[in-house]
Amino acid sequence: MKLEFETFSPEETIALGERIGACLKGGEIIAYKGGLGMGKTTFTRGLAAGMGLDAHVSSPTFAIVNEYSGGDLTLYHFDMYRISSYEALESTGFYDYISKRSVICVEWSENTEGMLDENMIIGFSGDGDHRKITVESAADLDIM
Ligand SMILES: Nc1ncnc2c1ncn2[C@@H]1O[C@H](COP(=O)(O)OP(=O)(O)OP(=O)(O)O)[C@@H](O)[C@H]1O
Ligand SMILES: [Mg+2]
Repeated sequence: MKLEFETFSPEETIALGERIGACLKGGEIIAYKGGLGMGKTTFTRGLAAGMGLDAHVSSPTFAIVNEYSGGDLTLYHFDMYRISSYEALESTGFYDYISKRSVICVEWSENTEGMLDENMIIGFSGDGDHRKITVESAADLDIM
């Protein structure tokens, strides 16, 4: 399924992230597409909240991966900004985090194109405070 949304503030993007997060079941590998400052980290704030995680979500640019646990599912938030080879990807532990009990979301998935085996793609584009956010999912999402 492919869905399209529009948001007009960071708060609206967080709210959309919450709606998506609330319908995740585990096993999702989410590839984010879209450039600098398009709202991927902001969206992830909502995603974590929707998954019932009381997490302080920040950009994983330096850590490469941030882990948010304490709920039924654990969220692994990756940033591939500085990752571009299969060897580098493997060394982040990416493949070890894939599980029915986890959700993985990946900023700068463009850098690891074809290596993630994603089952969801979320695209971000826009300017000013306006964002177009597309959600393509292999499984149907029960979005409220
Ligand atoms: N509708 C909107 N949705 C999300 N963010 C918005 C929106 N309008 C404005 N913004 C601003 O855009 C910026 C988004 O930053 P964010 O860190 O979430 O982007 P990012 O895609 O993760 O960037 P990076 O590629 O640098 O990691 C924030 O400064 C936020 O306030
Ligand atoms: Mg970011």
